[in-house]
Amino acid sequence: MKISIIGLGFVGLSLAVTNAMNGVKTIGVDNNKTKINNLKKCKTDFFEPNLDKNLREVVKSKLISFTNNVKEAINESDITFLTVGTPTKKTGGIELEFIKIDSHEILNALKSKKKHHLLVVKSTLPPLTTKTIILPIFENLIKSNKMDVVVNPEFLREGFAIKDLLEPHLIVIGSYNKKSGDLLEKYYKKFYKNIPEIIRTDLATAELIKYSNNAFLATKISFINSIANLCQTISGADVNTIAYAIGKDPRIGSLFLKAGPGFGGSCLPKDLTGLIDYSKTVPNSSKLFEAVKMINDLQPKRIIDLMRKMNAYASGNSISILGLAFKKDTDDIREAISIKIVKNLLKAGMKVTVNDPMAMGNFEKIFQNKIIYSKSTSSCLKKSDCCIILTEWDVYKKLNQNAFKKYMKTPKVIDARRILSPQKFSKIDFKAIGLGND
Ligand code: UGA
Repeated sequence: MKISIIGLGFVGLSLAVTNAMNGVKTIGVDNNKTKINNLKKCKTDFFEPNLDKNLREVVKSKLISFTNNVKEAINESDITFLTVGTPTKKTGGIELEFIKIDSHEILNALKSKKKHHLLVVKSTLPPLTTKTIILPIFENLIKSNKMDVVVNPEFLREGFAIKDLLEPHLIVIGSYNKKSGDLLEKYYKKFYKNIPEIIRTDLATAELIKYSNNAFLATKISFINSIANLCQTISGADVNTIAYAIGKDPRIGSLFLKAGPGFGGSCLPKDLTGLIDYSKTVPNSSKLFEAVKMINDLQPKRIIDLMRKMNAYASGNSISILGLAFKKDTDDIREAISIKIVKNLLKAGMKVTVNDPMAMGNFEKIFQNKIIYSKSTSSCLKKSDCCIILTEWDVYKKLNQNAFKKYMKTPKVIDARRILSPQKFSKIDFKAIGLGND
């Protein structure tokens, strides 16, 4: 069995590497020539723990190859995983152009192929997209039994891509007939030593499972951030204790209850927006999702409010930002809250100095020379009027109040990630998301 993967973004490349790691002959396809040339030399364009190391190994063992040529990849493989991007359009809906273009290319390639081919749609799509947009493209080939299309959403997290792909908590297979779903199930049964639960369903339910999963995670975060905002107005109240307590209820669960600056990344915001857009087709069904988004959109403002409380929000002030990535252990700044905060501070006339163990290069592409990039935490804090911790990097967890006192002009600290213990910062002006102050 040989597979091909079309679209070598974060999900596609991680999927290609893990398949090859499990001994499957894998062809990675992308229309970006520079990307393919770089991948042939084992160069990736984003950071993911252990990805580069494993890529080098599978390239060396010739289990993986890369090409721009869809036709060649389709002809040489039995199953194709489609992992092209489905970004948010400026109008709010989901951009399906790449899905359509690639489907047509796959169709052309399949016309000259004799053996049956299985197309596995992994890209996150609004409900009914596969049925109404992808299937009609392949209608004749499906009717003549030359191919089938199934939906198989992906639940991996950035920072854990390899682990999540090798040990998924669940496999969802959406299909319009038993035979095509069985084909993918058979593939996974060979692939995994310890196979997780497989849920078999129809195409649209599989698509909606993915949206529901991310929207529910987003809802938990917006819920706890709303409680955090209440805590900030109640002397002594602490959202962390509340999250811990309610998380003990097995019906609620402890994960994704960490209050913070709001959720970012390429997935939660995008899928929530996609679900809102889709829900508008059904009267009164988008209210909850809209509220979750609105709460998240407002959350960065809470940090500005804390700055105001500390008299730190003033034109001419120097502000240190610790953490730019949308979460730790990644260089990804897509939809990162740091972008919104830095834009706000610059607009208000403040001088901004930033530090991040991995994401500074990506941040520089947006802000160029408008801000200062500090290689170390201490140089970032130097002569600063206020410091905001925006990403929960382990290196920042080690900071103590002396460090802030030593380097800053006025040691005012906002912990937007709740990584520092407030008791240990009693000698400086310390505020945190979800922590009541007098
Ligand atoms: C998310 C989902 O967790 C994955 O299951 C899914 O497969 C993926 O999207 C996707 O659709 O591809 P990811 O974007 O890697 O994964 O990031 P998360 O770990 O979910 O974090 C998202 C944001 O929520 C981050 O900004 C994070 O800091 C924030 N967050 C997370 C909180 O503010 N509080 C929490 O308790 C948890």
